[in-house]
Amino acid sequence: MIVTIDGPAGAGKSTAARMLAKRLAFDFLDTGAMYRAVTLAALRSNCDLADQVALSRLLESIRLDMPPGRVHLNGEDVSDAIRTPAVTAASGAIASSPIVRKKLVEWQRQIAAGRDFVCEGRDQGTIVFPDALCKFFLVADPQERARRRHRELTARGETVTFEAILAAQEERDARDAARDIAPMVPAPDAIQLDSTKLTLEEVVDRMEQEVRRRREPPMPPAPPPTPMAPESQESEDPVARIDSTWFKYWHEFLYLPYHFLFTLGFSLRTTGMLNMPKTGPALLVANHQSFLDPLIIGLVARRPLVYLARKTLFRNPLFAWMIRSLNAVPIDQESVGKEGIRTILSQLQRGRPVVVFPEGSRTDDGNMQPFKPGVHLLIKRTQAPIVPVGIAGAYDAWPIWRSYPIPAPLFMPAGPGTISVSLGKPIDSSHYAAMPREQALQELFDRIHAEQQHAEKLRRR
Ligand code: DC
Repeated sequence: MIVTIDGPAGAGKSTAARMLAKRLAFDFLDTGAMYRAVTLAALRSNCDLADQVALSRLLESIRLDMPPGRVHLNGEDVSDAIRTPAVTAASGAIASSPIVRKKLVEWQRQIAAGRDFVCEGRDQGTIVFPDALCKFFLVADPQERARRRHRELTARGETVTFEAILAAQEERDARDAARDIAPMVPAPDAIQLDSTKLTLEEVVDRMEQEVRRRREPPMPPAPPPTPMAPESQESEDPVARIDSTWFKYWHEFLYLPYHFLFTLGFSLRTTGMLNMPKTGPALLVANHQSFLDPLIIGLVARRPLVYLARKTLFRNPLFAWMIRSLNAVPIDQESVGKEGIRTILSQLQRGRPVVVFPEGSRTDDGNMQPFKPGVHLLIKRTQAPIVPVGIAGAYDAWPIWRSYPIPAPLFMPAGPGTISVSLGKPIDSSHYAAMPREQALQELFDRIHAEQQHAEKLRRR
């Protein structure tokens, strides 16, 4: 799902986009930073900024990575180097280059493919993501924008007059809006917001409201209650096959090659396998580092497990096939929203082990993130044993900002990318039944964190 925020420099796009992404648990892409990074590369290699052939050659030779809030150019963190006045001044020429725009549009689409992103720039709603769920065009009074920029620069110790900033800004606005290719104009279906009179908090409140309204289709009227026929019960259970004998054999059959693959490819180390209940329901609660996590947990649990996955992940047919084969139940929301909790409890009642990631989404910096409050409802309501699971190394192997994993094969152990996983002793869920929410969440967090630390030690051994 894509949300776009376009508009002139200084209207508060970056901060708004970052805040909105955080609230929605989306990722955030600053496309201006990509133009700036290409500008920096061009300046460093003394490339003529108007020479399209030279720029094309330059683009072939560079690699841009966009980890959360940072920009890496050929592996070097250039997040600060791209903010100098020299880069700002030269970025206009780069942003007007058809060859650069073509490449960056392609990279931006690749980065966001199949994921939830708030993308910020000049052409995100018009050119890059014309089908975005929600488009905003954020403006502000030019004087106010120049004042903000002046405050920002003087706080950084730079000496520059307000008038000089205003003049440069007017020139950039005019150039961005008038250029032939991807001019800075609002998409016809964009919502215009003015941050002159609104606080940033208010701007983001409005954006968030609008995104949530569009994301959640109106609830259909509840059907009249009917006695449940056995067939309808079956059709409501997308992973019914998990109980069948053929599936158990199929699972056993796949287990060995997968184990082999992970041991060889990621030097996988596991501990605590005996803590997994051999039969009956279990709620496996794990930290979430990468797309590999479900497979890794499956390998340590040695039983067919049920997962939840957002419906949007089922859009790509190959990926849909893969996660279906992992017994993923499609849901509309994040794993621990109301719908997710209902699904998890009903799967546990069927006697199956279910995996949840209480952080809601993959970590964006390798550290554990706070748990979603809904997790409390889940651990309070379930009667199944709760198994804490800690994963370490999967973020290094496949961080959220990279579109592919880099394995750390068995012959180079203890390096980055090696993965390990630890299963803790099952917790009796009655333990949490009467505990206040904050305390229960904190305690569960600490247990999983302890498993993660344990796994981390194992990985470095
Ligand atoms: O938002 P910013 O100041 O960091 O942008 C840097 C330059 O890139 C600026 O000249 C505008 C241009 N840009 C663009 O043309 N299209 C985008 N999607 C983002 C930025």
